[in-house]
Amino acid sequence: MSSISNLSNTVSPTIDHHHHHCRFKPQIARYSIHLSTSRRTKIRSQLTDNIQVVQTKSISHENLINADNRVIVGTYGRTPVVLTSGKGCKLYDIEGREYIDLTSGIAVNALGHGDPDWVQAITNQANVLAHVSNIFYSLPQVNLAERLVASSFADRVFFSNSGTEANEAAIKFARKFQGFSRPNMDPPTEFISFTNSFHGRTIGSLALTSKEHYRTPFEPVMPGVTFLKYGDINAAQELISRGNIAAVFVEPIQGEGGIYSAAKAFLKSLRSACDKAGSLLVFDEVQCGLGRTGYLWAHEAFDVTPDIMTLAKPLAGGLPIGATLVTERVNAAINYGDHGSTFAGGPLVCAAAIAVFDKISNPSFLAKEELDRAVEIIHECLHVLDEKTCS
Ligand SMILES: Cc1ncc(COP(=O)(O)O)c(C=O)c1O
Repeated sequence: MSSISNLSNTVSPTIDHHHHHCRFKPQIARYSIHLSTSRRTKIRSQLTDNIQVVQTKSISHENLINADNRVIVGTYGRTPVVLTSGKGCKLYDIEGREYIDLTSGIAVNALGHGDPDWVQAITNQANVLAHVSNIFYSLPQVNLAERLVASSFADRVFFSNSGTEANEAAIKFARKFQGFSRPNMDPPTEFISFTNSFHGRTIGSLALTSKEHYRTPFEPVMPGVTFLKYGDINAAQELISRGNIAAVFVEPIQGEGGIYSAAKAFLKSLRSACDKAGSLLVFDEVQCGLGRTGYLWAHEAFDVTPDIMTLAKPLAGGLPIGATLVTERVNAAINYGDHGSTFAGGPLVCAAAIAVFDKISNPSFLAKEELDRAVEIIHECLHVLDEKTCS
């Protein structure tokens, strides 16, 4: 299963969960619809307690979907599949059908489903201490932050619970940094973001997200954001040099609306323009970071480092986490009480993230041979899909 786990981490396609439809329709590929009775029995016996609970209540596929339609706020256009368990790159639905998971939870299940080390880490930690308030110290939070700091440009980490929150923290830190750095003048408060960007759905991150149909129903969002064409060096240099920009938010590789990679010259020019004007450079690696490019951090391939980097999705292998990594220079502007979160950086989620991080950051996991093998496996999967689609 380990190479299949690589596959889910490195080459799974992204889906547009923000729209009410899937961009790549057969995300979860049903390749084994007509299973024999004995095969179904075997799969059922492999399923988790979760499905047993569902089954004892005798909830059918249709009833569950109808109940969802009655009690869940209708923000998602769901694929009509009721998933109850998973192992490695496989998922099983309420009727025992088996699927190849090509979504990996939208870049989340980096180790596949039910990775034994991840399960063990969560089980061990849950038995000891699941939650403690951030008004106390706790071991897993510090151990995870030490790993993130040791492996990156950053000196410190602020934990949150999602990608959008990681970006909200970056927005606040950038504003605070500018006020702190220029106490005797009006500090720059504006932001630059780019076409085709996605940074999240809370009001600040939403203001940085380019697609208008995400933003317009909720206006006014945070003011002061200018969208420039992704890759337009001249426009970015010109606007940054005016001196009103607190921070430039950019995904080194954009995840939404297709996979668009920045050019090295573009990121390098952002870096030098920010340095000249005193603006901060923020890399959103929520989707492209943590091994998805074969590098631990996507920006390693561009030889440019940011002042702030935001992470989320695969970091805790399926439990909610966000992280905002900053340099000491940025940290110097942040005081007690400037930001916080009840759940963030809790022992359980951080223990899970340590298990994920230790696997993903292992050089042999990121080695080229492993990536080649992952690509081979996805081709095999697609071949199976083709045969099933054609038959
Ligand atoms: C690049 C990027 N940033 C931020 C986010 C928001 O993350 P979350 O959904 O965890 O808030 C996403 C989610 O798709 C993303 O792709």
